[in-house]
Amino acid sequence: LKLLILFGGVSNEHEVSRMSTASILDAIDKEKYEITKAGITKTGEWFVTCASPSDIKSGAWETDRSNVRVTVNLTGTCKGLRTVDGEDIPIDCVFAVMHGRNAEDGSMQGLWQIAGIPCVGPGVMASAVGMDKVTAKLVAASTGVTQAAYYATDRYRFSKNPLGEIENIKKKFNGEYPLFVKPSNSGSSVGVTKVNDEKELFEAIKLAAEIDHRILVEETITGREIEVAILGNKDAKASRIGEILSANDQLYDYEAKYHNSASKTVIVDDLPEDVEKEIRQTAVDIFNAFDCRGLSRVDFFYTDEGKIVFNEINTLPGFTSISMYPQLWQDMGISYSELIDKLIYFAME
Ligand code: DAL
Ligand code: MG
Repeated sequence: LKLLILFGGVSNEHEVSRMSTASILDAIDKEKYEITKAGITKTGEWFVTCASPSDIKSGAWETDRSNVRVTVNLTGTCKGLRTVDGEDIPIDCVFAVMHGRNAEDGSMQGLWQIAGIPCVGPGVMASAVGMDKVTAKLVAASTGVTQAAYYATDRYRFSKNPLGEIENIKKKFNGEYPLFVKPSNSGSSVGVTKVNDEKELFEAIKLAAEIDHRILVEETITGREIEVAILGNKDAKASRIGEILSANDQLYDYEAKYHNSASKTVIVDDLPEDVEKEIRQTAVDIFNAFDCRGLSRVDFFYTDEGKIVFNEINTLPGFTSISMYPQLWQDMGISYSELIDKLIYFAME
């Protein structure tokens, strides 16, 4: 099978994609696939590359002498990539190991759909809806799951009447803090701020508005941060539950996620059996409500009062060496390389 592993991208999670890709390249069974690696730079240039996983991880791949500029062949003459010299590189399946905008938001999925090549993971609609936190709230609500109270605003409304919007937010949350401010479209907590007063709220909205025009303000849910990995198509299965022990007790931010080795992920084994069952089933229900396929990671809070609160769905969860998704499947007895095989199998199904 001719597999394209695609990484990087014009996304604020470009670096995370490189880390995820290096882990996948280290783990994948190279006997099984004829692998083409291609990277997209932060400015959107596409190159097929022979760079090593460590050079992909560090970013040094961009100056690799093997790099050949390519485009996706949308002419219908050969499914795959095409070099600038007009040479075709046929591809049977794409694993776009990319996160965030232009990657996990349906645009990449749409590109491969048009090219007629199966792609690992959820399709256009599930990816787009899962990526946009405001829209995701609406779809998740259809399952009846509890969610944090929220107020959605946007760049235009806020810049036209900032004080009015701040008043609306204060009214919505009865003047209570802390609140979370998030760009509706972002990942790895980029642009997310926990705010304690009006002044911080104002600054946080301005910051979030630099990343996306839609902005979500949410109440703070205090509880354990738990995550469930889902794998499969029609009859998708849930892993056991993982828990994030963040090195930053205020926010599991980009730094705590990828650069602080004190952050840990563990398998939860202290929840009553029926609670664990309910969380896993809720995760599957959400996966199905979004019409996902292949994989997703569904994130929740488990509060001190025993409430299961949906936080978000990631249709292309992190695959770094410390990421939860592959770890949860390892715990279920599926090795990293078997997991990759299954993801490709589900993409081709
Ligand atoms: N957005 C990152 C990659 C994650 O959810 O794991
Ligand atoms: Mg995310």
